Amino acid sequence: MHQKIAKLRTEALEKIGSAPDAGALSAAKNHFLGRKGLLAALLKDLPGLKPEEKKEAGAALNKLKKELEEAVEKKTSALGKGTSGPGSILDHTLPGKRIPKGRQNILTTTMEEVIAIFKGLGYSVAEGPEIETEYYNFEALNIPAGHPSRDMWSTLYIKDDLLLRTHTSPVQIRYMEKSKPPFAAIFPGKVFRRDAADLTHLPVFHQVEGLTAGRDITFSDLKGTLAAFCRELFGKNRKVRLRPSYFPFTEPSAEVDVECFVCEGSGCRICKNTGWIEILGSGMVDPNVFLAVKYDPEQISGFAFGVGIERIAMLKYGIDDIRVFFENDLRVMRQF
Ligand code: FA5
Repeated sequence: MHQKIAKLRTEALEKIGSAPDAGALSAAKNHFLGRKGLLAALLKDLPGLKPEEKKEAGAALNKLKKELEEAVEKKTSALGKGTSGPGSILDHTLPGKRIPKGRQNILTTTMEEVIAIFKGLGYSVAEGPEIETEYYNFEALNIPAGHPSRDMWSTLYIKDDLLLRTHTSPVQIRYMEKSKPPFAAIFPGKVFRRDAADLTHLPVFHQVEGLTAGRDITFSDLKGTLAAFCRELFGKNRKVRLRPSYFPFTEPSAEVDVECFVCEGSGCRICKNTGWIEILGSGMVDPNVFLAVKYDPEQISGFAFGVGIERIAMLKYGIDDIRVFFENDLRVMRQF
């Protein structure tokens, strides 16, 4: 038995040590250490030996098994270093693992684009809180308590005087309290309303508020600015219109509509058969708003606007249901 073990040892160490690649090493391992290998065959002979011989041979075989396993391990790491090609430990021909790649949500892209356009027109950027008081969200904007125009914004109250802002217009007030005209600034952010979600409405959405104040600012400045903005955003071929409207904090007021991208003006369920999709509200700042921030309306005039970002993204990317922005369906998101 002694001799058999010694012979197996010499042979196995030689074969393992000289294996040229992973395939040969695996074959050698199997030949000597496998379930039906040469070492297993010698173990099967043990029961036929005398007790003291059996003990000695058993210990020698166990020692050999350990030694061969270590030799295989050493050879495995030696082959792994700097080797490549089929059959080696590092197979560079195998296809790589795909690493999932994230991408920017198109609402963020749209928001960035809108901000960039106004920055290009000389506007600076500021932000305000999402939780507001009634004073900033309504009263300072010429909407006193109990006034019916408060119904224009179905409000989510947190408690008594605290609410989730229904528009970005309160940031106008906060900004004017700290600034002296002339200036031009935009205020991007999230707004909240008790609106039921439908094709063009969400209860949480984004707006970019804009405000310009100074001497001799007129309605033509408003019209020129918003026309430049729309041209930049949608190209000069998309039809845009200014429609008279009402907001308590601007007088006169107007809304901007863009031709519906689905029906191109003929009328469909998205544009509620009008052929147009409203993207923003605007107007000349009401003198009462200037009085609330201690500006003299005889000296200072200005215009303001509030753009809906989701509506813009719908028009730009041809999305016919505003709700997909918040459903996070990867099949939709991966398209952009
Ligand atoms: C306002 O919120 C005014 N604060 C805008 C304004 C600012 C007017 C300054 C005058 C001067 P309005 O509620 O219309 O207005 O909302 C403005 C824009 O937000 C809309 O034109 C539309 O694009 C978008 N919008 C309004 N409600 C929703 C909604 N539920 N879901 C998605 N977008 C909406």
